[in-house]
Formats: sequence, C-alpha cells, structure tokens
Amino acid sequence: MNYDERLQHVSVMGAAGKMGSGILLLTAVEMADLSLKPENKGKSFVLNAIDLSDEGLAGLMDYMRAQVLKIAEKKTVWLRSVYAGREDLIENYDIIEQYINDVMRIVRPTTAMEVAYRSTLVFEAVSENKDLKVKLLKQIDQNNPHKTWFFTNTSSVPIHIIENEAGVQGRVLGFHFYNPPAVQKLVELIVTPNTTAEARQFALDYAKAMGKVVVPSNDFAGFIGNGHFMRDALHGINEALELAKNRPLPEAIYMINKVSQDFLVRPMGIFQLIDYVGVDVVQFIMKVMNPHLQNEDLHSDLLDKMMELGVKGGQHSSGAQKDGFLKYEKGAVVAVFDPTKQTYVNITDFQAGCDEYLGKLPEAFVPWKNAVKIKDKDAHFGPYFAAMKTMNTPGAAIALRYGRNSDAIGRKLVADKVAHNEQDVNTVMLTGFFHAYGPINTYFN
Ligand SMILES: NC(=O)c1ccc[n+]([C@@H]2O[C@H](COP(=O)([O-])OP(=O)(O)OC[C@H]3O[C@@H](n4cnc5c(N)ncnc54)[C@H](O)[C@@H]3O)[C@@H](O)[C@H]2O)c1
Repeated sequence: MNYDERLQHVSVMGAAGKMGSGILLLTAVEMADLSLKPENKGKSFVLNAIDLSDEGLAGLMDYMRAQVLKIAEKKTVWLRSVYAGREDLIENYDIIEQYINDVMRIVRPTTAMEVAYRSTLVFEAVSENKDLKVKLLKQIDQNNPHKTWFFTNTSSVPIHIIENEAGVQGRVLGFHFYNPPAVQKLVELIVTPNTTAEARQFALDYAKAMGKVVVPSNDFAGFIGNGHFMRDALHGINEALELAKNRPLPEAIYMINKVSQDFLVRPMGIFQLIDYVGVDVVQFIMKVMNPHLQNEDLHSDLLDKMMELGVKGGQHSSGAQKDGFLKYEKGAVVAVFDPTKQTYVNITDFQAGCDEYLGKLPEAFVPWKNAVKIKDKDAHFGPYFAAMKTMNTPGAAIALRYGRNSDAIGRKLVADKVAHNEQDVNTVMLTGFFHAYGPINTYFN
C-alpha cells in the first residue's frame, strides 16, 4: 500500500477535541490534495471524524469550514492549476468554494466508532487515559480486516505499553503533535522495537507533507517535551514554595512566574504555562509518568491542592485562558490565587515590592518576542547571562538556578536515552515550547 492508498480511508478518534480537530484539519487538507491529483481521479477518500460529543462534532464542522477557507485563500495559485480544466470556476471565490467543498466532502463526522473498522490509518486523540486508548485500539483492531496503523497522540503513556495491551504489535507509533496541531511545527515521533519500517517511513512522509519538524524520541513516559516541561514546572513550583517560607504564597508564585518569564526570556512564566496547559493536565501527566521513573518523584502537593479546590486553568472553547494559578483579564495577569484563603489576590497589592526584591534585569535584556528573532543567540544570551551572574540579587540567583536546572533536565534526557542527542532536546524546546534558546547551553556554567 503506497502513501496515497494509505490515506484513502482514515479515522480520527477524538476529532472534536483540541488536538483531534487540528489533526483532522491537517489530514483533511492532505487527503483532499491527494484526491485532486490526476492519478487519483475517481478514487474515494474518506476521513471519519469520530467523537462522543454530538455538540463537539457540530462545532467541528464550522471550525473546519472556516479554517479550510483560510488555507484555500493562501493557495489560490496552486488551486487554479488544479482546477484548470474547470471552465465553470472563474473567479478566485469560485475556486476557493470548490476547494472547501472538496475538502468537506471527505470529512464524515460521526459518533459511531464502527466506521473506523474500514480505515487503514487511525489517529487516536481521545482523552489522556491509557485504558480508554487501549480499549479503543483493541476494539477497532479486532474488527478491522486491514491491519490498520494507529498513530496515537498520547502525551505521556509509553507507546510499547499501548502496543502490548491493545495487541497491535508493530502497527502503533507515537505521533505527538503539539497544541495547536495546525500551527505548531513540532511532532515527536516515537516508535517501539516492533514498529514496522514502513509505518515509520509513512509517518515521516506524512509529517513532511504537513511541513512539520520531526524529532524522534525514545519510548519513555512523557517523551522529550513533557520530560522537560514536567520537571521544569516542578522546579518552578518548588522554588515558589521555598520563597513562600518567608512571604505569602501568591507573592512567591508571582515572583517565580516573573523570573521564569522575564529573567529567563521565555514566552510565558512557568505558572502561566501550567495554567495554559491545564493544572489538571499537568497533574495527570506527572501521575502517568511517575511510575515509570526511577529515583525521582514527579509529584506536587500544591497541584493536588489546586485540583481539590477546583482551580484548573485550561482554555475556554473561545481559546481564552481560564483562571488557574493566575487570573487573567484580556490576556494579562491581574491576580494570583491564594490556596489558603481560596481567593485571588490582586497583583497591584504586592507587585512593586516583589519587583524591587527580585532586582533589575541585566541591561542587555531583550524581551522574548524580540529575542526569538536574534540570529546569533550565543552572542546575545552569553553576555546576558554572564551579566546576570555578576548581579547579586534574588531574581538573578533564582534565574540562574532555574537555567542550570533546565540545562540539567535536558542533559539527563540525553543520558537516560529519552532523547538521541542534545540537539533534539533543544529543537523540542525551541520549536514546541517557543523558547528563545535551547535548554542545553553554556550560559549557566
Ligand atoms: N492539549 C494539549 O496540549 C496536548 C498536546 C499534545 C498531546 N495531547 C494529547 O492529545 C490527546 C487529546 O487531548 P486534547 O487536549 O485534545 O483533549 P480534549 O479533551 O480536548 O479532547 C478529547 C476528545 O476525545 C473525545 N472522546 C473521549 N472519549 C472518546 C471515545 N471513547 N470515543 C471518541 N471520542 C472520545 C472527547 O469528546 C473530546 O472531544 C490526549 O492524549 C493528550 O494527552 C494534548
């Protein structure tokens, strides 16, 4: 079965979810483009969008239409060549409308998973629950005569465990998109010792067609991205708890968030990132990873406490940030949660005092949104962190400890053979987490 044939009958499980909807969009466009190739004329292309939620599926189709329109508008030149023989398509909007119809015709929203019994490729993006994933894969596989391939989007479960428990030896791999899949360039690719070379090669070809950057990760819980993020988050939480020995926790959280964003020149502070991903998701991924780790306890009582209090972060369906450790107004942080008083404290109450305590940023400071564009990162960040080392302030000390810890996490991922090399760790953090510089560097020595 060649590439095009493999993509003639595909299913996305969890298609109405955050990840599933993006995977569906990318795959629908790829399949539609294949269907428009002259050699595929007359062949059927079917993409099942499977989800439990009827409501979610209805919203999904609106989302798809709007997104395909944007994609079509960017490739009118190509579309003109594809539809060159169609005399009825004159204006750009005729061509765009035709393309949207061609994409949407492929997509079949349904709550009935039985349609996946005919697929040759299944993307699995249901909730992060190993038993659920295993159950679905097993059921599809037992009823599907095509020896279908499963590409799972799990963030944390080792792929060989899914493979063994579902009994789909050699036909499952981790194809770990980042959120949102349609925008994020990074994909972590995880194979097991059984995964066939053919499935792996297909995954690489598919990723290339999507314009993705593929980083191979070995099959360890959390892989590279969450392997770094979870430990980095735990470090931030513990730094805040340390500071909170001498001051209220909301102030400590504010300060660690500020240091991890401004001093370390990252796109967002660590508590904002935890909120963005979801306190529940972070707690859950740590729980999934923990039993697979040796001499390490990836667990935080503070996350448990937040969950008990129902403060979870995550996003509204509009994409707006929900309140978590931090409270947001129009995207800006305005308050910090106090788990003891179970209320938010306005940052204006303590911001000036905390900023003064942390101290100034080095003079060479360039905010993240400009720093990411700097070509010679070493020439900028080397002197920037060197200057920080000469500053005798709490902010500088916390930032340097943070940077060293991030570097150590990265090196350990290589030493533990989760990542093949240092470059792969850096690529994941630069591409998937939009860091301005790789965690493995020489700045913090
Ligand atoms: N959100 C992220 O940042 C992110 C990033 C990378 C990977 N992931 C992984 O992707 C997967 C999905 O995560 P998400 O954030 O999109 O979750 P989500 O909750 O947004 O979506 C999950 C979807 O699965 C559907 N679902 C649940 N049970 C189902 C079933 N039995 N059959 C069909 N559909 C079912 C739900 O209705 C929902 O629409 C998880 O494994 C997660 O770890 C998430």
